[in-house]
Amino acid sequence: MTDSRKLFITSALPYANGALHLGHMLEHTQSDIWARVNRAMGRQVRYLCAEDSHGAPIMLRAEKEGISPEEFVAGTRKEHWEVLQGFNVSYDHYHTTHSPENEFMVQRIYNKLKENGHIDTKVVEQLFDPEKKMFLADRFIKGECPKCHQPDQYGDNCEHCAATYNATEVINPRSTISGATPIIKESLHYFVNLKNFEEMLKDWMNKGALQDQVINKLKEWFDMGLQSWDISRDSPYFGFKIPDTEDKYFYVWLDAPVGYLGCLKYVCEQNGEDIEDWIAPDADTQMVHFVGKDILYFHSLFWPAMLHGSGIKVPDAVYVHGFVTVNGAKMSKSRGTFINASTYLKHFKPDYLRYYYAAKLSDKIVDLDLNLEDFVTKVNSDLVGKIVNIASRCAGFIKKKFDGKLSAELHNPELYQTFIDSTQEISDLFLARKYSKAIKIIMTLADSANQYISDMEPWQAIKDENKQEEVHQVCSTGINLFRVLITWLSPVVTDTAAKASEFLNTEVNNWDAIDSPLLSHEINKFKPLITRIEMASVEAMIEDSKEDLMAIVDEPTYPQITGPLADDPISDEIAFDDFAKIDLRIAKIVDAQHVKGADKLLQLTLDLGGLTKNVFAGIKSAYSPEDLIGKNTVMVANLAPRKMRFGLSEGMVLAAGPGGEDLYILEPNQGAEPGMRVK
Ligand code: MSP
Ligand code: ZN
Repeated sequence: MTDSRKLFITSALPYANGALHLGHMLEHTQSDIWARVNRAMGRQVRYLCAEDSHGAPIMLRAEKEGISPEEFVAGTRKEHWEVLQGFNVSYDHYHTTHSPENEFMVQRIYNKLKENGHIDTKVVEQLFDPEKKMFLADRFIKGECPKCHQPDQYGDNCEHCAATYNATEVINPRSTISGATPIIKESLHYFVNLKNFEEMLKDWMNKGALQDQVINKLKEWFDMGLQSWDISRDSPYFGFKIPDTEDKYFYVWLDAPVGYLGCLKYVCEQNGEDIEDWIAPDADTQMVHFVGKDILYFHSLFWPAMLHGSGIKVPDAVYVHGFVTVNGAKMSKSRGTFINASTYLKHFKPDYLRYYYAAKLSDKIVDLDLNLEDFVTKVNSDLVGKIVNIASRCAGFIKKKFDGKLSAELHNPELYQTFIDSTQEISDLFLARKYSKAIKIIMTLADSANQYISDMEPWQAIKDENKQEEVHQVCSTGINLFRVLITWLSPVVTDTAAKASEFLNTEVNNWDAIDSPLLSHEINKFKPLITRIEMASVEAMIEDSKEDLMAIVDEPTYPQITGPLADDPISDEIAFDDFAKIDLRIAKIVDAQHVKGADKLLQLTLDLGGLTKNVFAGIKSAYSPEDLIGKNTVMVANLAPRKMRFGLSEGMVLAAGPGGEDLYILEPNQGAEPGMRVK
């Protein structure tokens, strides 16, 4: 390795208010492999993470459980750390943002920002819960959307019409904490003036350490104009107090990234090092953050600005990854695909998932699908069928016939050399985070190793008295090829590599050592290094994940029901099978007429692609007949015909809304074909 700079690598700090799931594990796997490869290349690495411990949600969670927030986050930190260790994630230390080291770094950064004129204050109006006596973040407010009047929407955006708005605009707002009606109250807030950093950020963006997609996003944000960043929250809040204030706290997103440095500070103190050697603007170090696409804004704008504004070196790279989907869809609690990392560990060893993620990870911000059938097939065929197979085909002969000692020469040194010639390319790909490409090359070479053994047929040759030495050399070549493969894979399949190291009687994480093969070297008895997995275990894991859901559902979310639901409770539950009986079809409205004597109904003639149906629909208050003709709608096509005063109605069109003029006929795109089933 030419790069001798010290490396400081982090993953995003997991929130203390939830369990780690398989989505989180993508990030920890990606960064862990990178840290391990860098260590194998001989670089000095500090690979760090911590519990993100502050914020109102954590304060409220702890309160609900009747414990202090400190106790609460100590518990989640322990849980998270156990799970991370269960996945063999090799953090040098897992700290917490609720630590003296972090508070020190937060104050240092804030004081510098203030000294350098980057902090402003402004009075803002915010919703306040008069019962709970606290200001309410948007997520703690629900009410009617000010744009489309959909009830029960969160305080910042409407899930119905996608509008975004200020919490103070919400109609009939209520606090989801106490159910009380919030009042508008003023408060003095502290801001970082991000505009001051525009030039610096543009400079940083062009230094080449960011992915193209990140640069494009940044350009969009620059075009939209940088906004000042609100970094204060009012008491009560679980966090660090802002210096020289009585009741103002730093917003959790300010002290969270500083937590990277808080952890570094702790580790430096433990090792008698000076943190300045790591973080001074001219320090000869490399600071690299792995994060998901959802928190890019914080890491590519606020974070470098804060660092620069307080005289600390800016990140050398922010590596952004996409999101994990399971079986092609967002992880879902009801389908059992929202799988907690601890649930996974009850059913599988870490190497399977680590390998699967590595085999699919690239340096791009794309989502990664964990297809559970593919998962089973791939790890069985690659890890068991290809890699371990090489060792298991050769080990027996060496042990039984040759006293467990490898031959003095290889049978095929050329083949060994082609393997070694790939080391550079494979390490380059790993360092460039193109893991899937690296894995592909490794597996192709594994195929050629297996092919070589099949061609040499040691199990036949062994029967021939004259071929004993050939068998010895062939099997020793096989074992040596296996050693090369498992060395390259050692950052990924860490348990398997550890077992291989025991079997080979040598360390397998030294990429230089494989330049020379193991000759006349004693190896140990072969034990299966990794076993096949079955779909049945996947199914059991999914069942278990559904149980996790029950635990969540049992917790009441709101103390009381207010709003429309209070007067009009949700109807009796129907079975899914009942719902599935409904046959929804695209229907074209070929004719629409007023109905004499009816003040709500229109008579619609619907074409379902050859079949015509006559339907009376109560949508007259919202539509005139001429507006409807030629449009598509969705209809319940298998509703039993009903005799009405005006004639026979043969189905029902789907329209919904609060009523009156606000009644929306579900109108799919006009390219849909009449008669098509709606999914
Ligand atoms: N606490 C903040 C990070 C602070 S960093 C200074 C946070 N925590 S988190 O627990 O919600 O997420 C931690 C990381 O996991 C983030 O990088 C996030 O993008 C990632 N992921 C969360 N869900 C994910 C998937 N479904 N898939 C992949 N990564 C995901 O954000
Ligand atoms: Zn809306």
